[in-house]
Formats: sequence, structure tokens, C-alpha cells
Amino acid sequence: MAEVHRMFFPYSECPLSMRTRYTGTLLVLGIGYLFARIHIYNSHAGRDGEPGLSVEDIRIAYSGSKEATKLEAAMMGPMSGMLPTNERGDIVGWIRRGLDEREYEDRIKPIFDRRCTACHDGSNPHIPDLNGYHEVSESAEIDTGMDIFTLVRVSHIHLFGLTFIFFIMGMIFSHAYLRPVWFKSLVIIVPFAAITIDIASWYLTKLHPAFALVVIGSGGLMGMSFAIQWVVSMYQIWFYKYQGVKRSSADVL
Ligand code: HEC
Repeated sequence: MAEVHRMFFPYSECPLSMRTRYTGTLLVLGIGYLFARIHIYNSHAGRDGEPGLSVEDIRIAYSGSKEATKLEAAMMGPMSGMLPTNERGDIVGWIRRGLDEREYEDRIKPIFDRRCTACHDGSNPHIPDLNGYHEVSESAEIDTGMDIFTLVRVSHIHLFGLTFIFFIMGMIFSHAYLRPVWFKSLVIIVPFAAITIDIASWYLTKLHPAFALVVIGSGGLMGMSFAIQWVVSMYQIWFYKYQGVKRSSADVL
């Protein structure tokens, strides 16, 4: 019989109401996690011109692209569904030839009017205004990636939001019987470390492209910890019967 800390309560000793509450929380958090993955894919995939999500896509999202303008990056990535490839080619060609105003009026403006200005007419301050030559030209400058103000806004949302999620997750998971105890504690602490490193790397990617790998690595660690906590908790809540508790005072973790 294993010795456990006197404050440890396995799920099988938790009342049914508590286990259903944990189950509901895990289910909704799991669905939320899937949506978060879809969102990451949608907003970053394809920025480098290749389908799918790559390290290069992450690098471009945070630090920009020396080869492509913000407008091109958006048309390759999140906005790629908004226009057919040949019209994208027309716009890219026009950008590369130096943003000629006459050509804009003749050939390019009709494309923007047809495909983009329903949303990008300047009425929404959070997305670029593409209604007019000067507005479009601004978006067609060299892409320097997500600006600092956007990063700061997204950082604080992630830091607060993910701390809540992993606090709740860790609290549920604390009832799991998993040995060695250092491993259980590691699974709990990893996401907190990962989110901090992840967010720091968003900024550092602007200084050195290799940090895009750290962004992906820390995201992976967070996902792994999430998966372990979710699966172990869900399994033990409903199927695991902890065999006897031998309490000790405080010397066992
Ligand atoms: C249905 C509405 C809608 C249409 C149509 C649309 N966009 Fe967008 N666009 C958005 C929204 C919402 C965002 C901000 C969310 C995001 O970045 O994914 C955005 C963001 C952008 C950005 C900024 C991306 C960044 O990385 O900051 C650019 C550039 C852009 N769109 C270009 C276009 C172009 C070019 C077209 C037409 C071919 C187009 N959009 C059509 C809704 C639209």
C-alpha cells in the first residue's frame, strides 16, 4: 500500500457531484483546445506560400517577411480564401512592379472592390483599410510582422487566460494518482513555464528567426501536458479505483 500525503484525495473518494463538475469542465476545455488549434492553423498557415503550417509561417507572422509585403502575406495566409489565385497573381504582380496608380485604377481597384472592401472599407479600425490607392499602398509596404501593440494585447490575454485554464486543469489533475510524484508535478508546472517562454519568444522572433522554433516547441509542450492531464483525469474519474489510503503526516509529497 502506497503512502500518500494526508491532503491527497483520489477521485474515487470525491463525491459524484464533484466528479461530474470535473468531467464537464474537462469536456468543454477539451473542445476549447481543439478550437484554439484550428484558430492557430487558420491565422498562420500558408503565409510562406506553401500549404500547411510551418516554422517559416510562424516566423513570418511574428517577425514579417523580407520578400513579401503584409498584403501578400495575408493573401497567402488568412485571406487566401477571399480571392481566386489568378486575381491574387494580378495583385502580387502589381505590387512587385511598384504600385503604379494608373494600373491600380484600371485593373486592381475592381478586384479589391469585388473581394475585399465588403469588410476592409475602413469602418473596422482593427483590420487594414483597403478602400483607395493610398490605403492599399500602406498595406503593401514591407511586412514587419505583428506590431508590438498587437503583441502586448495578445500577450496579456494569453497570460491571464492560460493561467486560469491550467490552474483549473492542475487542480482537477491533483486528484489523480500518478507516480513518481515529481513527474506528476512536472506535468502540472510545464504549461506555466511553456506559456512564459512562448510569449517571450514571440518578441524574440523579431530579433532572431530561430525563436519561431521555440514558439512551436513550447506550444507542443503545453499541448502534451494538456493531453496527459486530460486523459489521466478523465480515466481516473470514472474508471480508476484507488486501492486504500495509508495517510502519513507531511513528510511524503
Ligand atoms: C469577410 C470579411 C473579409 C473579407 C471579404 C476580406 N477580409 Fe481581410 N481581414 C478580415 C478580418 C476579420 C481580418 C483580421 C483577422 C485576421 O487577421 O485574421 C482581416 C485581416 C486582413 C489583413 C491583415 C492581416 C494581418 O496579418 O494583419 C489583410 C492585409 C487583409 N485582411 C487583406 C484582405 C484582402 C486583400 C482581401 C480581399 C482579397 C480581404 N482581406 C478580404 C476580414 C475580411
